Amino acid sequence: GLYAVIPAGGSGTRLWPLSRAGHPKFLHPLTGTEASLLQATVERLLPLTDHAQVYVVTGVAHAAAVSRQLTAVPEENILVEPSPRDSCAAIALAAAVIARRDPEAVMGAFAADHLIADGERFVAVIEKAMSGARQGLLMTLGITPTRPETGYGYVQCGGPVGDGVLAVEEFKEKPSYEVAEGYVNSGNYLWNAGMFVWRVDVFLTELARQQPQLHAGISRIAQAWDSPAREEVLGEVWPTLPRISVDYAVMEGASAVGRVGTVPGDFGWNDVGDFHTLGEVLASDHAGNVIVGQGALAKPGVILREAENLVVVPNSGRLVAVLGVRDLIVVDTPDAVLVCPRDRAQEVKTIVDDLKEKG
Ligand code: GDD
Ligand code: MG
Repeated sequence: GLYAVIPAGGSGTRLWPLSRAGHPKFLHPLTGTEASLLQATVERLLPLTDHAQVYVVTGVAHAAAVSRQLTAVPEENILVEPSPRDSCAAIALAAAVIARRDPEAVMGAFAADHLIADGERFVAVIEKAMSGARQGLLMTLGITPTRPETGYGYVQCGGPVGDGVLAVEEFKEKPSYEVAEGYVNSGNYLWNAGMFVWRVDVFLTELARQQPQLHAGISRIAQAWDSPAREEVLGEVWPTLPRISVDYAVMEGASAVGRVGTVPGDFGWNDVGDFHTLGEVLASDHAGNVIVGQGALAKPGVILREAENLVVVPNSGRLVAVLGVRDLIVVDTPDAVLVCPRDRAQEVKTIVDDLKEKG
């Protein structure tokens, strides 16, 4: 079966103050259920794998919270990185550790913090992606784009190369707005969902070709992984690894030599990067108001009077009351409150940048 790798590293700054360095997005139950995004990610994969083949790569600061949330995942499958080196290092580490166990394993890398509405369709798409992976392709999942989003990667679709699998002519990470607009209008590009399926040996060969230094470092670490030298080698090598995402490090270059494929699949995907998009995917009341995390999180609750099109996140245990306003985001946490217009949700990260500068 599938080896499922979940790199869990980003802190989700556009979801401040709900998502914090100390309590990142993936540890939150954003959907109103009891499960966190991370727990939901694992649950959704269980038709394809079992807990013994689930791996999470996360930072020292979150390892304890991750194992507390994923009690069925073996402790040794929680790979702890000494510092964040972006997604390529995290995914490559997991690939190399898995390759020692099963050299031709088919692995998927699944973002820890995405919402997926249609779990059954998702599973069907992954099964197709696994068949593409067995043919030796680095597989992406392609989502029909609805706007020229510059924060995503894009794949240009080629012809069919298998059951539901298309060749990818070009993988382009985070294009400029103008370029993204051209892609969307062409009708021939899909968003990269940020999830990948491949054979570990194929991925590691491509990594060695394009990122020899990263590959060499990861190989040294993987060799020491099951030995008493693990911590020492990790401490020495990890900080020297290039800080680059897998999209730039491997996928763009692999597409140039025809080694990337995609399975188009609309399974209700949303990467819930900000409060506005979160509001769009959750159920709203008759006036368009969304209360995030209703249930477990929202005690004692929210009072809305003559309010329209709000995204309200009650996360402090306090009562939140809103009267006579519209198109706002209201987030209440124990030590910080955010109020801003819905159409400026993207700018919330500038607050976090300012806070970081002040220290
Ligand atoms: N362990 C670990 N360490 N995980 C990391 C690190 C790190 O240093 N950096 C990123 N990750 C994890 C994130 O937690 C997430 O699960 C995944 O790697 C992707 O990283 P993001 O930082 O969220 O990438 P992105 O959103 O800018 O772009 C990616 O996702 C888009 C879709 O949401 C790309 O794959 C795009 O092409 C894609 O469109
Ligand atoms: Mg992301």
